[in-house]
Amino acid sequence: MPRPGVPDAYRRRAQAEGFVSRAVFKLQAMDARFRLFGPGQRVLDLGCHPGSWMQYLASRVGSDGMVVGVDLATPKLALAPPLYFVPGDVQSIDLAEICTHTSTFDAVVSDLAPKTTGVRVVDQQRSLDLARRAWEIAQAVLVVGGHFLVKVFAGPDVAALEIPLKKAFGTFHRVKPPGSRRESWELYLLGLGRRPPAGAAAGGPGAEGADGSGSRGSGEGG
Ligand SMILES: C[S@@+](CC[C@H](N)C(=O)[O-])C[C@H]1O[C@@H](n2cnc3c(N)ncnc32)[C@H](O)[C@@H]1O
Repeated sequence: MPRPGVPDAYRRRAQAEGFVSRAVFKLQAMDARFRLFGPGQRVLDLGCHPGSWMQYLASRVGSDGMVVGVDLATPKLALAPPLYFVPGDVQSIDLAEICTHTSTFDAVVSDLAPKTTGVRVVDQQRSLDLARRAWEIAQAVLVVGGHFLVKVFAGPDVAALEIPLKKAFGTFHRVKPPGSRRESWELYLLGLGRRPPAGAAAGGPGAEGADGSGSRGSGEGG
């Protein structure tokens, strides 16, 4: 069973393919299954360090797109367009800072994870707090038709976060992608196709994307 710091097949493959983390394979698998990203999209990546999701997203959105990463720690990669980095704590960061480069996003992804204590109930609560905050941010910046993907440690309180997501999106999934450590209790909540929020102002967050459909390259793949 893979352990942190001990090379496993996914880590070796990530190194061989030039990715800074094995986490990339989880996003890749979810993208392959649900077709989340496409050229020209603007994606917000919460908890982006060391940066493998940013690397993958850059290849998916291309030079016409934009990937804005937010983290306490600076990604371990060269930051050049379409990649942008905003340093900060998501719990206290000003939305205006996140929106320095664009005010709305076609997708918001969160791989935010707390430093684990080993006390399951504490770690689960901290993970849930981060996931809730990611959803709060997504509500402010995600276009109608856009997608929201968020990691959370499994636990009884996760259901409370699923309720608003099921209402807010056309389709909802709980996903355990390959590449998650076998011993890990992480899972991802995925909302596809944001519904118009009540009282959404035209052109503002929650309004339709530039192409009128919200998210480019969107759609559910199974
Ligand atoms: C599992 S890592 C993300 C890996 C990343 N998706 C990748 O592909 O390289 C989780 C990240 O969440 C970040 N994080 C945890 N709490 C945070 C907070 N309050 N504000 C910003 N980032 C936070 C950590 O610094 C860490 O880099």
